[in-house]
Amino acid sequence: MDGNGRWAQQQGRLRTFGHQQGSESVRRIVRASRRLGLRALTLYAFSEQNWERPRFEVEALMALLKDFLVSEREELIQRGIRLRMIGRRERLPGHVREVLDDVAAATADLDQMTLTLALSYGGREEIADAAREIARRAQAGELDPELVDARFFGNVLPSMEVGPVDLLVRTSGEQRVSNFLLWSTAYAELYFTDRLWPEFEVRDLFEALAEYQTRDRRFGRVACAATEGTLADPAALVASGVHV
Ligand code: FPP
Repeated sequence: MDGNGRWAQQQGRLRTFGHQQGSESVRRIVRASRRLGLRALTLYAFSEQNWERPRFEVEALMALLKDFLVSEREELIQRGIRLRMIGRRERLPGHVREVLDDVAAATADLDQMTLTLALSYGGREEIADAAREIARRAQAGELDPELVDARFFGNVLPSMEVGPVDLLVRTSGEQRVSNFLLWSTAYAELYFTDRLWPEFEVRDLFEALAEYQTRDRRFGRVACAATEGTLADPAALVASGVHV
């Protein structure tokens, strides 16, 4: 969700105003994703590296996050959306953790869509944390190192709980992954748009999904017949449980 700061600058406003408008984009994109029947949506809301930003900006982002969780709680429940987080929960301020835990608990059994917020998250950190835990268990004699392969990692990484990413969308014209879901995006389709996040509309999401539907996903194999015939058919996209 990149470009909040640049959007605010264009308006002659503070960066925090951009984040505020960015929260509105989050609300409409979550709603639209659920309406479209996407099975999983993961939002990179705050990276492990974002702690380095000025304190004022970090506090504003934490406040916006809390506002979002409080104001959307009932709607998430009504729409059957399970909320969860990935990232270093312990680094978040107590008042954010409290509301996050409350909404996560209240939505834990819902199964229409999973909304994952990546908070204090870093893809490298996630992999390194898992590797450390695996090493500890092996050292304690609880785990045979021979069992550790790519499938094993897929079962222990929190970001993989909702499966591999199908489509990665980055706004604002930057074309990089910036330590997002490094493992689960191994075969993700990448989509870059110049649109800044606060101006990212539902039609932009449609455009990204329409583009996704034209991609030929081969996963290292030869052309896959299974994806043919699903193109440009929103119902098929929905049925396939796309993770964005
Ligand atoms: C990157 O844009 C965006 C962020 C670091 C924060 C994203 C946060 C929100 C969209 C709002 C709060 C989140 C939720 C889930 C309600 P940038 O600030 O780096 O923009 P720039 O590159 O133009 O400076």
